[in-house]
Amino acid sequence: MLRILILIFCISYAKAASNNSIETFLNCLPLHSNTSISISKTIYTPQNASFSSILDAYVRNLRFNTSSTLKPLAIITPLEKSHVQATIICAKDHGLEMRIRSGGHDYEGLSYVSPNPFIILDLFHLRSIDIDLRTDSAWVQSGATLGELYYNIANISNTRAFPAGVCPSVGVGGHFSGGGYGNMLRKFGLAIDNIIDAEIVDANGMILDRRAMGDDLFWAIRGGGASSFCVVLAWKIRLVQVPEKVTTFRVSKTLEERGGDIFNQYQHVAPNLDPNLFIRAEVHVPPPLDQKGLKNVDCNEQSWVESIIFYDDLPMNTSTKVLLDRVPSLGVTHSKRKSDYVKEPIPMVSLDSLWKKMIEVENITLKFNPYGGKMSEISETATPFPHRKGILFKIQYLSDWKENSSVITHRNLREIREIHNFMTPYVSKNPREAFLNYRDIDIGTNANDSFAFTLDYFKGNFKRLLKVKAKFDPSNFFRHEQSIPILAIK
Ligand SMILES: Cc1cc2nc3c(=O)[nH]c(=O)nc-3n(C[C@H](O)[C@H](O)[C@H](O)COP(=O)(O)OP(=O)(O)OC[C@H]3O[C@@H](n4cnc5c(N)ncnc54)[C@H](O)[C@@H]3O)c2cc1C
Ligand SMILES: *[C@@H]1O[C@H](CO)[C@@H](O)[C@H](O)[C@H]1NC(C)=O
Ligand SMILES: *[C@@H]1O[C@H](CO)[C@@H](O)[C@H](O)[C@H]1NC(C)=O
Ligand SMILES: *[C@@H]1O[C@H](CO)[C@@H](O)[C@H](O)[C@H]1NC(C)=O
Ligand SMILES: *[C@@H]1O[C@H](CO)[C@@H](O)[C@H](O)[C@H]1NC(C)=O
Ligand SMILES: *[C@@H]1O[C@H](CO)[C@@H](O)[C@H](O)[C@H]1NC(C)=O
Ligand SMILES: *[C@@H]1O[C@H](CO)[C@@H](O)[C@H](O)[C@H]1NC(C)=O
Ligand SMILES: *[C@@H]1O[C@H](CO)[C@@H](O)[C@H](O)[C@H]1NC(C)=O
Ligand SMILES: *[C@@H]1O[C@H](CO)[C@@H](O)[C@H](O)[C@H]1NC(C)=O
Ligand SMILES: *[C@@H]1O[C@H](CO)[C@@H](O)[C@H](O)[C@H]1NC(C)=O
Repeated sequence: MLRILILIFCISYAKAASNNSIETFLNCLPLHSNTSISISKTIYTPQNASFSSILDAYVRNLRFNTSSTLKPLAIITPLEKSHVQATIICAKDHGLEMRIRSGGHDYEGLSYVSPNPFIILDLFHLRSIDIDLRTDSAWVQSGATLGELYYNIANISNTRAFPAGVCPSVGVGGHFSGGGYGNMLRKFGLAIDNIIDAEIVDANGMILDRRAMGDDLFWAIRGGGASSFCVVLAWKIRLVQVPEKVTTFRVSKTLEERGGDIFNQYQHVAPNLDPNLFIRAEVHVPPPLDQKGLKNVDCNEQSWVESIIFYDDLPMNTSTKVLLDRVPSLGVTHSKRKSDYVKEPIPMVSLDSLWKKMIEVENITLKFNPYGGKMSEISETATPFPHRKGILFKIQYLSDWKENSSVITHRNLREIREIHNFMTPYVSKNPREAFLNYRDIDIGTNANDSFAFTLDYFKGNFKRLLKVKAKFDPSNFFRHEQSIPILAIK
């Protein structure tokens, strides 16, 4: 049980917006970027013809692509580091709110939507990947996608890999800073457990590496959400060793085929298996058009990089070049995600009620990701990500829909919340934990609650995050609906 007493002393403010005209901001930029490439080539305002296409290019949730969604005053697309420095210095000086976007996969759109006048710092140009096989490490810039990283690793070696997410279009910038997990987490932990250095720009516009930023800030940006503290330019990662062939399989069972019993056994076994084995369970009501579903696959031997294609539900003969596609292979939809952590197996009778409930609402999918293995070996305070020993599963709740219709949107949002409510007795309590990368503003925001959401994401690590925030961003320049607040703690 964990309770933290927070004495709210004062909620910080952004710098007084006395000099906030967008024109003076834009004029400020060249003054602070002494570079070979003129910063004006990186600036898009609504006056530039390609403004909308630049904005849309990394909108990965159509819920935030409506005409009523507030658009940014400008989008800055840095071509070199000093463009990032200039943007921070000038935006801070002008009291302008800035959102940071790498891959644009934030489930609540916080990297490109704000209720206040704002600009976007869009890092998609900064995407170099430098792999050094001698030291089994790589520097990866934030704008690179996971697919690009994996393709490049596999292009050099078929026995090296990196343990991060399975969706190739996800950006390294947001993904690593929020934890970042994939199907090797039981073997190697999370992405953040394999990050060894970083290059950032802080609230003063200074470029800092691990040594210069110090232990606290380096700790905070690996799982605490870097967007509360700085802009990450690049991460240095440690590659892991994998065999030349890995094995994948897929089994699909309906309730009539005793899928319920199998799931019940699965939940007792999956978190305790050998860490070389990761078995995700996905539960959904098949849509009528998808009667055949995905084919069962017994045991499929392939290289690690080919297994990404399998996991992405693409045909098995798809070229790994598909990993270089920046647009998600399954298209962009409207979506909503929620998460939970399970610490005790769910009683069989409750599972039966859950399946009934899911059939009732129809369109919600649950993905169960077993923990254990390496995840149990890493201390809860080693990184801000606290969901370690004692966790059996993370549940991801998913709803995706194509229709641009407020009726369908409301229905799907209501249903995912209903299933999440239904699960209350069976998941972690005090706090009800949640995964930062599955951003969910239902659990609270800076504006409308007493920061309880930070306990869900970080548990006791919240206190250290508050200290880091107060030290490195006292004017709260790096802020959004769920950023770490400025609070005095006792
Ligand atoms: C299709 C899909 C599949 C996913 N699969 C997985 C998965 O397998 N495992 C997993 O862990 N997560 C997964 N996620 C969640 C994903 O990891 C998070 O949404 C992640 O934050 C996305 O990073 P991004 O750079 O693409 O997003 P963005 O929307 O660009 O950024 C997300 C957040 O990070 C901040 N940020 C981005 N770049 C920087 C930077 N350079 N410096 C500081 N702050 C920054 C943004 O401001 C925002 O708050 C998935 C998401 C989607 C949509
Ligand atoms: C406003 O911004 C401009 C451009 O950066 C700067 O020259 C000026 O001094 C600022 N004025 C105030 C009052 O801060
Ligand atoms: C946008 O328009 C301005 C004003 O014409 C121009 O200076 C700038 O270079 C344009 N941006 C890009 C990316 O072309
Ligand atoms: C977002 O909306 C605009 C205008 O309504 C549309 O042109 C664009 O295609 C949409 N983006 C996506 C990714 O569907
Ligand atoms: C400008 O160049 C100088 C000298 O090369 C360097 O010290 C400084 O950090 C640079 N400033 C920016 C904003 O790039
Ligand atoms: C893969 O490596 C080969 C040489 O080893 C190189 O020619 C090719 O450009 C690389 N592909 C990519 C996409 O980097
Ligand atoms: C993959 O296999 C299918 C049939 O199994 C075939 O139709 C398709 O052309 C193949 N694609 C590639 C890229 O080889
Ligand atoms: C389920 O999703 C499909 C596809 O988006 C949609 O057509 C259908 O109306 C949804 N059904 C329910 C009950 O929400
Ligand atoms: C979605 O629907 C709204 C209202 O029905 C409409 O204004 C908007 O243009 C539509 N957007 C797209 C991308 O079709
Ligand atoms: C906070 O606000 C969000 C969106 O504005 C809302 O969805 C959520 O229910 C609110 N949460 C609380 C705890 O009030």
